[in-house]
Amino acid sequence: FNAKIPELSNPSVCMRDPQRVQEILQSMVKAGSNTVQVISDFDMTLTRFAYNGKRCPTCHNILDNSNLISNDCKIELKELLNTYYPIEIDSSRSIEEKLPLMVEWWTKAHELLVQQKIRKDLLAMVVQESDAMLREGYKLLFDHLYEHSIPLLIFSAGIGDILEEVIRQAGVFHPNVKVFSNYMDFDESGELRAFKGELIHIYNKREGALLNTGHFQELRTRPNVLLLGDSLGDLTMADGVHDMENILKIGFLNDKVEERKQSYLDSYDIVLLKDETLEVPNAIMHIYNQLRMFHDNLLF
Ligand code: C5P
Ligand code: MG
Repeated sequence: FNAKIPELSNPSVCMRDPQRVQEILQSMVKAGSNTVQVISDFDMTLTRFAYNGKRCPTCHNILDNSNLISNDCKIELKELLNTYYPIEIDSSRSIEEKLPLMVEWWTKAHELLVQQKIRKDLLAMVVQESDAMLREGYKLLFDHLYEHSIPLLIFSAGIGDILEEVIRQAGVFHPNVKVFSNYMDFDESGELRAFKGELIHIYNKREGALLNTGHFQELRTRPNVLLLGDSLGDLTMADGVHDMENILKIGFLNDKVEERKQSYLDSYDIVLLKDETLEVPNAIMHIYNQLRMFHDNLLF
């Protein structure tokens, strides 16, 4: 079976239990592509972590670095990033310990952004001028899922308005894409006044999923899940799925690779080490096609 997916032998691929991966894949492919749904994180999962040695921005960073933010505010946002990002990726602290600190980060950053009276009509330009980059192979993935009517849920603790603009400008915001994220709330004059609804941060995606039961109810005929993430917090994104049958979890490990490798191997089925491409997810989606062609050949 792995011979059908030569990409699983890429040097970036690590698996704690390759046999188990094979079993999950076999069972998912057997059930057919009409029973699968994809649930993916956005920042540093669908987008690149680095390009030519330079870090790529998250949704928040796209705004932070833009000319919509005053210099003083930029400095404050940078300080927040320098304080809290190392905590986010610190493998020596537990999720319980990190959770309140992450809430603090998001809350402080959103307060600062709201003070900047950001205008809705300038967001498209900000994204256009940013260094935002989707991972190599993104078009293949988005187009494939759309063409095969496979639902894609993008579940992000970033900023929904920015995220949507990134995929719209990349030409892949297809109708099969649904987004759960933090959305901006603008006043009548089009200025940011708050963020809507419950805050989504990296460690409460489970709660976010359970608030959206309607979405998962609609997809109840798709109990097989391909999950893509880059944080251990992303593992709970599929907690709202009804009567799950199989889940294959692919984790991108971008930063502090050696320290974090074991914990990622323990919780993700496939771990991709410093892999800036979507080659492996694409190869996995592609085996559904191979199998269908195989069946078609049998029929005719
Ligand atoms: O889309 P995703 O759920 O990955 O978005 C969360 C990411 O946004 C986190 O990994 C975090 O590093 C980043 N972040 C940021 N600035 C903030 C808050 C979060 O860059 N103020
Ligand atoms: Mg992420």
